[in-house]
Amino acid sequence: MQYAHISGWGKYVPARRMTNDDLAQLVETSDDWIQTRTGIVERRIVDEGETAITMAVKAAREALQVAHFSPRHVDLIIVATFSPDRVMPSTACMVQDAIGADGAAAFDVNAACSGFVYGLGIARSMLMTGEYSNALVIGTEAVSHMLNWEDRSTCVLFGDGAGAVFLQSSEHPGGILAVTLGADGSGGQFLTGPTVGNNYVPQIGADLDLNHLQMNGPAVFRFASRILGKAAKESAKAAGLEMEDIELFIPHQANLRIIKSAAKHLNLPMEKVFVNLQKYGNTSSASIPLALCEAIEEGRLEPGDHVVMVAFGAGLTWGAATIQWARALPIPQEPHWHTPTHWAWYRLSPWRSLVWRATLRLDAWVDRIYRLIRHRR
Ligand code: UT7
Repeated sequence: MQYAHISGWGKYVPARRMTNDDLAQLVETSDDWIQTRTGIVERRIVDEGETAITMAVKAAREALQVAHFSPRHVDLIIVATFSPDRVMPSTACMVQDAIGADGAAAFDVNAACSGFVYGLGIARSMLMTGEYSNALVIGTEAVSHMLNWEDRSTCVLFGDGAGAVFLQSSEHPGGILAVTLGADGSGGQFLTGPTVGNNYVPQIGADLDLNHLQMNGPAVFRFASRILGKAAKESAKAAGLEMEDIELFIPHQANLRIIKSAAKHLNLPMEKVFVNLQKYGNTSSASIPLALCEAIEEGRLEPGDHVVMVAFGAGLTWGAATIQWARALPIPQEPHWHTPTHWAWYRLSPWRSLVWRATLRLDAWVDRIYRLIRHRR
C-alpha cells in the first residue's frame, strides 16, 4: 500500500501590506472593529505584475526546493484557486510551464476556501493508486482583484497569497491519513464571485453585484461555526483517531471568533490551534498551506505528530485532512548538489517555453503555406 507524505512546503505572500488603518481611509471602518470582529490586523495585496500564477510558481519552487526534488520529475500539479488570471488555460498549466515540469499532468480545482483540502484529497487518492508517485498541491489567491473596495463588509476580510505542498508516495505508513470532503450548494448564494458567462441569469436577488465577491457574512459565520468542528471530528475519526490525539489543529484562517468557537466545541486548548490570520487575513485556498508552512517554520510540528486541517468556504464546501507528520521519510532524496541544476532549469524554463511556442507558430505557418500551395494547384 502507498501512503502520501508531505516532503516539501513553500509559501509566497506579496510584499505590499495593507493595515486596518489603511482600509479605514477607504471605507467606513476602524482598526478596532476589524480586530474585535475578525482578529485581522493586516493583509497582503498583490502589486502590479503579481497574480495567482506568479505567487503559485514561487510557492511551488520553494516546496520543491525543500523536498530537494527536480521540477522535471513532477508527476502531477493541482492548483486550488477561485481567483485565477483566466478561466482557461488553468493556473496549474501555467505553473507547469513556468517551472518546466515537462512530465506533469496539471489541472485546477475550485472549491473556494476549501480548495486546497479538496486538492490534497484528490492528490492523495491518485498517489495511493500507485499510478502517480508525487504531486504538487498549491493554493493561490489574488482575491483583491475581485473585491469591491467600497463594500466594508467584505473588503476588510480578505488578502492575497499562495502556499504549496509537495507530496511523495511511500510504503512508509503515515502522511495524509484521511481526507473528508463535503458540499451543500443550497447555501451557494451566501458567498458568490463575479460572473463569467454572458447568459448567466442571476437567481439570487436583484441587488446582486455581478462583478465582485459578495457575502452574507452572518450566514457564512453560522455555517462555519457548525461545520468546522464536525468536519474535524469526522476526519480524525476516519484516520482512527480522537481529537485528544491531535497535537496541532490548523483551521481555515477566516475569523478568530469562528476558530475559537471550533476549538471550544472540540475541547482543544488554544495552544494546540495555529492562527496567523492577524498577518494575512482570509487568503481563501491559500490559507491552510500558508498556515501549515508557518507552523513548520515555527517548529510547531514534531515527527509523529497528528495534525487536523479543516476548511470551509463558498459553495458551500468544507473539507478536513488528518496528517501524521513525518519529516524523515524513507523517500530517496536527490543529492544537495542537484539544487543548482533545479535553479538553472527554472531560468531555462521561460526559454524552453518560448522555443516551444515559436515551434508551434512555425508549424502553423508551414501548414498555412502548404494549404495555400495545395489550393493553387
Ligand atoms: O472563507 C469564508 C469566508 N467568509 C467568512 O468566513 C466570513 C464569516 N463571517 C464573518 O466573519 C462575520 O460575519 C463578519 C466579520 C463578516 C461580520 O461580523 P458580524 O459580527 O457578523 O457583523 P454583522 O455583519 O452582523 O454586522 C454588524 C454591524 C453592522 O452594523 P449595524 O447594522 O449593526 O448597524 C454592519 O453594518 O457591523 C457593521 N459592519 C461594519 N462596521 C465597521 C460590517 N462591516 C463593518 C466594517 N466596519 N468593516
